[in-house]
Amino acid sequence: MNRIAFVNNKFVNFKNAKIHIEDRGLQFSDSVYEVIPIIDSSLIDLNFHLKRLKFSLSELSIIFKINKKKLIKIFSTLLKKNSIRNGLIYLQITRGVQGREHAYKKNLKATVIAYTQKKKFNLPNKNFKGFKAVTFPDMRWSRRDIKTTSLLPNVLASSYANKKNAYEAILVKNNKVTEASHSNVWIIKKNRIYTHPSNTDILKGITRTVIKKIIKDENLFLFEKSFTLNQLFNADEVFVTSSGSLVTPILQIDNKKINFGKIGRLTKKLANLYSSQF
Ligand code: PDD
Repeated sequence: MNRIAFVNNKFVNFKNAKIHIEDRGLQFSDSVYEVIPIIDSSLIDLNFHLKRLKFSLSELSIIFKINKKKLIKIFSTLLKKNSIRNGLIYLQITRGVQGREHAYKKNLKATVIAYTQKKKFNLPNKNFKGFKAVTFPDMRWSRRDIKTTSLLPNVLASSYANKKNAYEAILVKNNKVTEASHSNVWIIKKNRIYTHPSNTDILKGITRTVIKKIIKDENLFLFEKSFTLNQLFNADEVFVTSSGSLVTPILQIDNKKINFGKIGRLTKKLANLYSSQF
């Protein structure tokens, strides 16, 4: 089946989905993006994603006015044309096209790209899976709260994880865990749940925001506090969250097993509560 993408106001076949060689997204990663999960044909937490997109655009002064109605129409057309019930929508907005020069000109016309990917999610049913992770130095810039496509350190970390047959690379800066190459990291110790505070050192994940609310509603103990590598290795449970991973248990980090390599009680509970919203 032909896959269909959306590029600058047109639905096109994948092989014709092209952008200009002087697009600033290509040349400078001068662009932002969102990844939105589709579960049973529903767009999950769309409003949160659009709010973060608005923030990213505004932090970089990229001129693009978000029209929610129009975006929903584009997304549902993509879902239909690509026969997707479960998967991801990828939306990228670049600053636009300009003769190559580091400084950007005013009033460029943003490039808009959207397409879908099929995905089988790791849901807490009888196939709920836990994975291995590795640790890796966090080599990123100091505005990780902006969801830009400037992802080379994430790419290197994730490729290292792949090479080690691991699902994720947990990023470490000054002996503290920040997040992972494409997800946020959580640990549980003595029923206390820890995750890095949402400042400029991490991306404030949408899944993280929703899990936080679930933790609060359940009267569980949440500490938005950074934790050390030692605390990570000695945690009772570890899991990661993202739009692609949802809630995914981590059962081994480097050579250290977590919870004897078994999915923990609270991780399972949070995953169940999270997926009960779909
Ligand atoms: N990644 N931290 C990083 C560095 C991420 O790249 C992501 C998401 C998250 C989790 O954010 P959210 O819950 O909003 O998906 C945290 C997406 C899925 C990606 O780049 O494919």
